[in-house]
Amino acid sequence: MDFNLAVIKGDGIGPEIVDEAIKVLNKIGEKYDHKFNFTYVKAGGDAIDNVGECLPKKTVEVCKNSDSVILGAVGGPKWDDLPGDQRPEKALLGIREALGLYANLRPAIIHKALSEACPIKKEIIGDSLDIMIVRELTGGIYFGQRGYRDGKYGNEAYDTESYSEMEIRRIGKIAFDTAMARDKKLCSVDKANVLESSRLWRKVITEMSKDYPEVELTHMYVDNAAMQLVRNPKQFDVIVTSNMFGDILSDEASQITGSIGMLPSASLGENSFGMYEPIHGSAPDIAGKDMANPIATILSMAMMLRYTFNLNKEADDIENAVAQVLDKGYRTVDIKSEDTKEVGTKEMGRLIVECL
Ligand code: NAD
Ligand code: IPM
Ligand code: MN
Repeated sequence: MDFNLAVIKGDGIGPEIVDEAIKVLNKIGEKYDHKFNFTYVKAGGDAIDNVGECLPKKTVEVCKNSDSVILGAVGGPKWDDLPGDQRPEKALLGIREALGLYANLRPAIIHKALSEACPIKKEIIGDSLDIMIVRELTGGIYFGQRGYRDGKYGNEAYDTESYSEMEIRRIGKIAFDTAMARDKKLCSVDKANVLESSRLWRKVITEMSKDYPEVELTHMYVDNAAMQLVRNPKQFDVIVTSNMFGDILSDEASQITGSIGMLPSASLGENSFGMYEPIHGSAPDIAGKDMANPIATILSMAMMLRYTFNLNKEADDIENAVAQVLDKGYRTVDIKSEDTKEVGTKEMGRLIVECL
């Protein structure tokens, strides 16, 4: 089959990790007789520097007309002083909104071979972990009213958290359906002891649970959830939460798996359309040094094949190839431990392709 993919490499390590992911897809194409056609478009700092704006119209058009989108990462110190609506990060929010990608699935899985890289004691974690964080992605404080105003003490800035019942219901449906396909445990994370928007969140999710009698639903405040993730992460199966809480908790969960460089994600909209992106950023501190771990992006390709194209065998192949390379002891520096072989970004990509 033919697939038309829009590719946004972005900034920092974005181009390096996306290049390896593309090699993996090309190898899958060869093996299974699929053709992946890539259209490269710009967003973020790359677009600011080369086109003059962070999210050119053409980028949105190409993404909308593609079968799926691949994104590396955007942002970096070079653009940190731009006004909020011109920053690279604004482009990412703009794409998510324009494509209607309201559901962000972030699986935190510990690979057996990486149990050494997990900072949690072995007696707590054993050698496995499999959590799915379902993060709402186009609402909440990221998209609420913001600005500056004259306050009691002079100039003040504000950002607003708000959620509609519709937004909560549609992410809730993804979360309950995800839980049904897994261990049927859903933990909804909010701050309902303080926030009105969280109280509505909790009410809607609780109502929805009547339609999912098999799912064991619990609620947890976000501060407690952040603590519980470190105290006993194995208590969680599926977590559903708001945009900002999901952003924070998924970075925390990623480190439990060994490194943020391991965590893929699927940003999904209607009809299985999606953008596939690692959860990490552009890592300016290691950009251009062939040090970045490309696995989060490569595993995001497996998610794309599974969620958007329903190519489960192909997705399994990528996940197995990653596991094999880790089993053989190859590590980028972020997941390096004693008695393992350190490799760079390119070599890690090559080894994974070789296993396919
Ligand atoms: P970051 O995720 O880029 O980096 C945090 C730390 O993790 C750094 O030490 C980095 O070297 C390390 N790291 C990240 N990815 C790695 C990988 N694949 N392999 C090895 N190490 C990795 O977060 P940050 O430093 O807070 O942000 C840097 C820039 O990225 C900012 O401009 C931020 O806005 C942007 N950002 C973009 C995205 C995105 O495009 N999806 C996500 C997060 C942050
Ligand atoms: C992520 C990033 C983005 C977010 C930023 C760069 C806008 O941190 O994808 O996790 O907060 O959603
Ligand atoms: Mn983040």
